[in-house]
Amino acid sequence: MNVSDLYPNLEIDLANVETQLHHQLRSIEPILEETALHLLQAGGKRLRPVFVLLSGTFGNYDRDKLIRAAVALELIHMATLVHDDVVDNADTRRGHPTVKANYGNRLAMYTGDFIFAQALSVLSEIPNVDMHIKLSRAIERMSVGEIEQIHDLFNFDQSMRKYLVRIRRKTALLIEMSCMLGGAVSGAIPSYLNALMRFGYHAGMAFQITDDILDFTASEEKLGKPVGSDFRQGNITAPTLFALRDEQFGTELRELITVTRTDDEWMVSDGTERALALIKSSKGLICAQEMADRYLRKANDALLLLPATEERETLLAMSRFISNRDH
Ligand code: IPE
Ligand code: IPE
Ligand code: MG
Ligand code: MG
Ligand code: MG
Repeated sequence: MNVSDLYPNLEIDLANVETQLHHQLRSIEPILEETALHLLQAGGKRLRPVFVLLSGTFGNYDRDKLIRAAVALELIHMATLVHDDVVDNADTRRGHPTVKANYGNRLAMYTGDFIFAQALSVLSEIPNVDMHIKLSRAIERMSVGEIEQIHDLFNFDQSMRKYLVRIRRKTALLIEMSCMLGGAVSGAIPSYLNALMRFGYHAGMAFQITDDILDFTASEEKLGKPVGSDFRQGNITAPTLFALRDEQFGTELRELITVTRTDDEWMVSDGTERALALIKSSKGLICAQEMADRYLRKANDALLLLPATEERETLLAMSRFISNRDH
């Protein structure tokens, strides 16, 4: 399934978002324009813009403002991707070489900064200080989440709660903010705004848990980015945490990790390959999927607090896409 098939009614507005994104990524510095457009033109699902636009239908749909908000959110997301690929040492993104791979870390860092700056510029056209504060806070928390991930690399004893707090910060908050911004710029009533944020938060949690599952199960071809790299790099996600609790495979997995783990050789050791195989044979992936599904059910419950419109159905279809996606 192609995710864009879910929202034919948004076609024109999304085309407009795309035009604006191109416009925003123009620069007097040709290399910055090239690196930023490189990522934009590689594609991507544009989920955050879609969440902004759909949420906007629960108030007075102000097309111009919503398109600006959608552009700003996608730019913030793109900036974090460029930086994330430096941190994660990733060579592919959206089916193409990453900015880091093509142009090196230094240019990638400035490309991320440039895209962030353009997001700020677009946001300044939406004069709502409260929204600016909320978004700044979300971006700050995102950085906190990423730092926590670094602190917890190779920490196989971390709690599930810790993982959930981290993914809330690094991913769910921005999706929650997309829904909030869409509702807020169109003046949605507080109860609708609350429902949209609840939906965004829970869908965002499910989205990152699914991303973490796909890192074990998907193909690089479908996903357009490296697979199997979280575990090899010591990023402990839900499938591993559940696998460690598995009655059949958990003990062997823990022993293997303790014996083979030496930072430098971890990524390529036979022990790592065996550990990956154990995680895949364990209940880890199924339990993680069940956890994602529980979040999606809560996301869908939040939708019931909204009027029964076609766009509410589309949000529901998007939450189904999140749990069944292969990219
Ligand atoms: C990737 O997000 C980063 C995560 C938060 C998991 P997406 O899967 O939305 O990336 P694109 O925009 O479609 O490439
Ligand atoms: C993404 O997490 C979080 C961001 C805020 C960018 P990942 O590191 O899992 O994202 P991918 O898998 O590289 O897209
Ligand atoms: Mg990362
Ligand atoms: Mg990454
Ligand atoms: Mg990932």
